[in-house]
Amino acid sequence: MTTSSSSAAERNLIKKFWKQFLVVFMIFLICFSLFYLNQKEKNAYINKTLELKGSVKEGDALFKMNCVGCHGITARGLVGPDLHSINQRLNDRKIIKQVIEGLTPPMPSFEIDPQNMSSLLTYLHTLK
Ligand code: HEC
Repeated sequence: MTTSSSSAAERNLIKKFWKQFLVVFMIFLICFSLFYLNQKEKNAYINKTLELKGSVKEGDALFKMNCVGCHGITARGLVGPDLHSINQRLNDRKIIKQVIEGLTPPMPSFEIDPQNMSSLLTYLHTLK
């Protein structure tokens, strides 16, 4: 009977479709959870950094070790831009993201703990 065999084929096709849909959906779900967890972690990092009190001296040393190659010894800019009055252009959250995310190559992302990030931020605030 042609009708029953075609409907069996149809059922198979529908089954196949749902299987594929499920696979795609699971992949999407995994990607979304990873993105969400990453975002949550980043926010926790930024909040922690903003709560801490940084030391200008430490921040100065960190800057000299990591940033002068591109931003210049006096932070007046070289490969990277002049960082004086940076906090008039970017808020603290944006500055932290700039340092830890590496969103604007060639500037790399830095793995830096919140205490050191806080010091770096405090140092950048002194660059009027
Ligand atoms: C390899 C070179 C390089 C290094 C090292 C580097 N930067 Fe950068 N930085 C750049 C470049 C290039 C830009 C401009 C990116 C853009 O917006 O196109 C930039 C942009 C920035 C900005 C944003 C400036 C603005 O006006 O928007 C900040 C803040 C900054 N850097 C801070 C730092 C700090 C702090 C360090 C050290 C921990 C550092 N950078 C190390 C190259 C570098």
